[in-house]
Amino acid sequence: MTRHLNDLIASRRAFLGGLAGLPLLNLAACATSSAPGGASAARTVNFTPIAATNADTITLPPGYSWRTLIAWGDPLFDTASAPLDLNALTRAEQEQRFGVHNDMLALFAADYAFPPPKDQDRMLLCVNHEYASAELAFPAITAPQQFTSAHIEALLASVGVSVVEIERVNGAWRVVTNPAPGEGRNRRITAFTPVRFTGPAANHPWINAAATAFNAAEPGTPAGEVACGTHSNCAGGLTPWGTYLTAEENFDGTFAGAPESLAAWRASDPDFDFDARSFEYPKPYLPEALAPSQFRIAQNPHGPSVYGWIVEIDPYNPDAAPRKLTALGRKKNECATTALAADGRVAVYMGDDQRNEFVYKFVSRRAFDPANRAANFGLLDDGDLYVAQFHEDGGGVWLHLTPENANAAAAREGSPARFADQGDVCMRARQAARLMGATPMDRPEDVEALLDANWRGLGPVLIVCTNNSINGQARPGNPRRESDDPAAPQVNLAGHIIRIDEAGADVAATRFSWGIFAMGGDPNATALTAPTRDARPAHVSVAYQGEPTFAGDRFACPDNLFIDSTHRVWIATDGNDGVFADCNDCVVATASAADAAEGPRLVKRFLVGPVGAEICGPLMTPDEKAFLCCVQHPGGNDVAGADFSSARWRGAPVPSHFPDGGDSWPRSAVIVVTRDDGGRIGD
Ligand code: FEO
Ligand code: CA
Ligand code: CA
Ligand code: CA
Repeated sequence: MTRHLNDLIASRRAFLGGLAGLPLLNLAACATSSAPGGASAARTVNFTPIAATNADTITLPPGYSWRTLIAWGDPLFDTASAPLDLNALTRAEQEQRFGVHNDMLALFAADYAFPPPKDQDRMLLCVNHEYASAELAFPAITAPQQFTSAHIEALLASVGVSVVEIERVNGAWRVVTNPAPGEGRNRRITAFTPVRFTGPAANHPWINAAATAFNAAEPGTPAGEVACGTHSNCAGGLTPWGTYLTAEENFDGTFAGAPESLAAWRASDPDFDFDARSFEYPKPYLPEALAPSQFRIAQNPHGPSVYGWIVEIDPYNPDAAPRKLTALGRKKNECATTALAADGRVAVYMGDDQRNEFVYKFVSRRAFDPANRAANFGLLDDGDLYVAQFHEDGGGVWLHLTPENANAAAAREGSPARFADQGDVCMRARQAARLMGATPMDRPEDVEALLDANWRGLGPVLIVCTNNSINGQARPGNPRRESDDPAAPQVNLAGHIIRIDEAGADVAATRFSWGIFAMGGDPNATALTAPTRDARPAHVSVAYQGEPTFAGDRFACPDNLFIDSTHRVWIATDGNDGVFADCNDCVVATASAADAAEGPRLVKRFLVGPVGAEICGPLMTPDEKAFLCCVQHPGGNDVAGADFSSARWRGAPVPSHFPDGGDSWPRSAVIVVTRDDGGRIGD
C-alpha cells in the first residue's frame, strides 16, 4: 500500500528536524511579478476581523455590505415571470430558473478578450448547481412518501449549470434576464441536456452502453450527443480562451437501486466491480420507483460512466453542446484549475474529493493561441494525464498515466487488471493511479495555482485537503494527534492546505517540492484537541515543524480558495461548524506574504454565512471591488448540528430563513459583497 500523505507529512517533519517552515509559506517572491501596476505583494489584508457567530445571515466587517445577486428559483427568462412557487416547481419551470445548491462561480467578460479585461460593467456568470436535497425542496410536503416522479424530475432539472448575464448599475451588480431561452446568453444545463464526449475515452464501451439508455429516455437527442447532461458539479475552472470548466463530483448519489442488482455485473467484470466499489454507487438517496429509467442502476448499470468528467461549456455560445473532456480522467472532480506553462501549453489541476484519493494534472500537447480563440477548442482533448506522488524528503513526481505505465505497474503489483488504451486509462483513472503508487490524501478539494496577469503559472500551487473523518487513519504518521499516543486512532477533522512548487517554476514540470501552507485549526488553542459538536475530539493545533502555520482567527475544513491579483488567499469552509460549533461556515483571508521577522501569517475572518450553509465559490470581479460567493444549502443543519434531512420528517422547523428572512423557506444563493466606500476588497 502506498503511504498516505499524512505519513509523509509526519516523516517530513522528522526529516527536516528543526528547519523553520516559514520560507515555504511565503508566496511573496512570486506575487510581485503580477501585482497590479507593479505594486509589491500584499503583506496584509485590511479589514477588521469579525467574531465567530451562529447568526442566520451574512456577517461582515464594518464598512462592508452584502446583497443577494440571485437565488434558487429566480427567473433567467421573462417566460418564467410568474411569481416563484417552490411547491409548484416542475422540470419545465426549473429549466427557466436559476438552479439549486450553487457551488462554483466564474466570471467572463461580456466580449471575449485575452488577457481578460479588468474594467467590466457587464459579464457572464457561470454557476454550478451541485445537487438537490429533498429535505430542502417542496416546502408543503410533510412526508417522504409524498414525493412523485414529477418532483424527482424537477430536482434533476435544478442541478447542473446556469449561465447568467449580470450588469453593474450605479455600483450594484444585478441579473439581466433574457426574453426567452435562446434569446441572449442566459442558459440552463441540467441532468437532461444533450452533451458530447471528446478525447480518448469518447467511444469507451461503457459510455456507448450508457448512451443507449440515456437517449432512449430522451427522444430527439441530436446524433452524436448523449442526453445525460451534467450533475454533481462542485467546483471547476475557466480557460484562457473563455470557456467554463465544470467538475462532476459525487455522481454516485444520482443512481438509484439496490446494490445487489449489480451483483452479476460485478462478478463478471472485475474492472466494473472496482468502479462500483470505488465510486460507491448506487446510493439510497433517490427512490428507485420514482427515478427516471436512465438513473435506475439495474436498467443502466454503466450509467455512472458518463459522469465524473470535466465538462467544457462555451458561455458565449448558448447553442453549443457541453463537451465532456475524457482526456482529463474520470474521478470525483472538485475542480479544474488552468495555468499556462512557459511554452504556452495548458496545465489543468484537479482534486479527487474522496477520502484517500489523489490529485491529478493534465498538460495539453499543443500551446494556447491568444490570437485565435477558435483554435483553442480541443486543446484539452490531447495531452498527458498525471497523478501526484509525494515523497518523504519534500519532493514529489507527477506519475504519467498511460496504458504502458499502468499495465507495468499492475504486473509489478501482481494485479490482473489491464488497460486496453489511453481511453481505458482515463475511464479508470483511479484504478491506474492506485496501481502506479499515487499518494492517498485527505479529500483533496480545490487546487489553485498562482498565476500572473497573462495566465502564466508561477510555480506555487495550493491544494486544499478538507478533512478525513475515517478513524482508520490509525497510523503513527498522521500529523493530527488526538492524543500523544501515536498508536491511538487519529483523524484529521480540521483539514490542511498543502503547497507544492513546480520544478523550474513551470506548471508543465513532472517534479515538484511540497510543504504545508496551513493546518486547519485554532492558533490560539490552549489544548491539543477541542471537543466538537458531537463530542468527538478534533485535533486543532496549527503547528507544523514546531512552528505555527498561521496566527489570528481559527478555521476548519477549508474547501475552495480564491487567490487575488496580489496573491492574498481567500479560504471558504465547508464543515467549520462541525469542528468549531460556535461559528457557521465562513471565509477567512490571509496575506500573500509572511516573513520570520513578522511572525506567522495572519488569518482574518472576513465573512460568516447563515445557519447550515457551506460557503463556496469565492471570487472577485476583475476590478476586485466586489466579492462574490455561494451560500449553499442554508438550513442543511441547525445550530446544534442536527441534520435537516432527518429532522424535517420528524416535524422540526426549517433551521434557516436565508436569504429572504422572516418565515421564508431557505434558498441557496449567490451573494455580492462590496465596500461601502467603493474601494477594493481587503485594501
Ligand atoms: Fe462538493 Fe468536494 O465538495
Ligand atoms: Ca457542496
Ligand atoms: Ca467543494
Ligand atoms: Ca466540500
